[in-house]
Amino acid sequence: MCGIIAYTGSREAAPILIAGLRDLEYRGYDSAGVALQGEANAASAVAKRRGRIAELETALRERPPPSAHTGIGHTRWATHGAPSDANAHPHTGCDGAVAVVHNGIVENYAALRAELAGRGHAFASETDTETIAHLIEDELEAGRDLLAALRAACARLAGSQAIVALSPREPGVAVGARVGNAGGVVVGYGEGEMLLASDLAALLPHTRRVAFLADRQVVRVTAAGASYASLDGAPADVPAHTVALDPAGAQRDPYETFMLKEIMEQPRALSDTIRGLTRVEPAGLHLDDLGRARPWLTRIERVLLVGMGTSLHAAMVGRWYFEQIAGLPADIDNASEFRYREAVLGPETLVVSVSQSGETVDVLEAMNVARARGAPQITICNTPGSQTTRVAEGAVLTRAGLERGVASSKTFTASIAALFALALETGRARGRVDDGTLARHVRDLAAMPDVTGRQLEAFGEAEAAAERFRETRHMLFLGRGPALPIALEGALKMKELSYVHAEGYAAGEMKHGPIALIDRDFPTVALAGEHALRAKIVSNIEQIRARGGEVLAIVTEGDEELTALADAALTVPRAPALLEPLTAIVPLQALAYATARLRGCDIDQPRNLAKTVTVE
Ligand code: M6R
Repeated sequence: MCGIIAYTGSREAAPILIAGLRDLEYRGYDSAGVALQGEANAASAVAKRRGRIAELETALRERPPPSAHTGIGHTRWATHGAPSDANAHPHTGCDGAVAVVHNGIVENYAALRAELAGRGHAFASETDTETIAHLIEDELEAGRDLLAALRAACARLAGSQAIVALSPREPGVAVGARVGNAGGVVVGYGEGEMLLASDLAALLPHTRRVAFLADRQVVRVTAAGASYASLDGAPADVPAHTVALDPAGAQRDPYETFMLKEIMEQPRALSDTIRGLTRVEPAGLHLDDLGRARPWLTRIERVLLVGMGTSLHAAMVGRWYFEQIAGLPADIDNASEFRYREAVLGPETLVVSVSQSGETVDVLEAMNVARARGAPQITICNTPGSQTTRVAEGAVLTRAGLERGVASSKTFTASIAALFALALETGRARGRVDDGTLARHVRDLAAMPDVTGRQLEAFGEAEAAAERFRETRHMLFLGRGPALPIALEGALKMKELSYVHAEGYAAGEMKHGPIALIDRDFPTVALAGEHALRAKIVSNIEQIRARGGEVLAIVTEGDEELTALADAALTVPRAPALLEPLTAIVPLQALAYATARLRGCDIDQPRNLAKTVTVE
């Protein structure tokens, strides 16, 4: 979580840092701050404020900082110490010899703090990060240069960290370190300027030429370029490459929120993803990034899909694909649970991780466990170059473009499309998918962007339905079969966007307990598309209505019977059974969006959340 940005070059640093923080604000918005390096040997000018970046901008207007061409910035998702001005980053040592921004958790910070305080260091915050600043300060005092001081400090820290620092003792220099899976440090190569950031979003307005630090690597940037080393000081070669992401994708206009833009972008995101992986005429697949994982497709005996949140729900849909298309036993697992069990797996199990960011710590730790057990891995990911793509033997990259809304939308549907293509590729490799079947599936998949596009034209229907839920405090989302993950995802969208307590449930489970909750104040959204075991869902709807519960049904176009049975209905276009999840989620995204809007919620930055979860 937390967003980090650093700049060094010939331009004024402050506006670049502030713009970068805006691009990273979805990573955390408890506080924001910058440290600007003016003259050599003068302490860095630090400005930081609790709250959104607008608060920081006000502070900078009230007390304009000195002109500076090097600086670092941070937007915080609080872990240690409440959101406050004092706990905002950057943190400095006692004499301002260093300023530090940080993403991660210093697990041994209490012991370090006691040790440092014992040596006379005075602390100004309650954060774990401040210990890093004091450790670096000691190392600088001992005569080390800034990079060596950072490396020495990292060696004292327990846990995973991404750190960026600067010191007035080394004008025009910023240094960064990545240790473990607390999040990325991406190096951006500009024309006569260099940047560091926690992810690509903040770099794309300046450059597309980037390099990603691997675990236990450090970097030193000046306006002229970058040099890399491992944590023990050995020089490292970290190649820069050009990413294909479009900086315009990071803009919101003309939409009122990024979330709305991203929901509306789904036909394009799907189309780019599908075209990147399949060919309709003649039917074919080109999953070009499978790399060393490809030979494993014929050797494996089962598939285990892991992810978190929305990506876990996409993985649940993927399980259907591996079973039905590739004929393989498939399980799903919450990555944060998987890593702490004695999971039984080895080279016979293909582990498929799903992660839009490629930086979610729970997913990365699960992948480390899988690697230690010898399981081959493929990641479904929206971020080229991210950590999951480095750990896995192969990748299937979605082409949804940058997703800025904290609540995922277009990356969910793009991940489902990628999982469909991967299951087809696996079925093909194993001789289970013949030419005719491949052609039919590819044709069906290629039609989905248009189907989704038509569906979005009816976005307004969800707004009317949302009126019913304006004052609702609790809701149930029910689904069966491939509609169950959609019920779970619909409930997640409702929770995180509108703060309504929403439970996603397997419809068959309802009679085993949850039905006790049903009364006139506890409405249900029932996924009742034609392939979602419709007849069974009809029974669920009858049972809920018999107990006075209100039902909003998601039905296939033309389903008059269900439309009449439910209190309200939203329609989805007819789609092939396996692809119905792609249509069914759209009205639920729209419903959550419209409900949140009516309730006056902050849609792009819901409370307490951050886009990329890099702490456990
Ligand atoms: O980047 P990832 O896909 O690995 O993120 C996993 C979850 O944190 C994420 O899907 C989260 O649940 C969504 N943003 C919620 O909308």
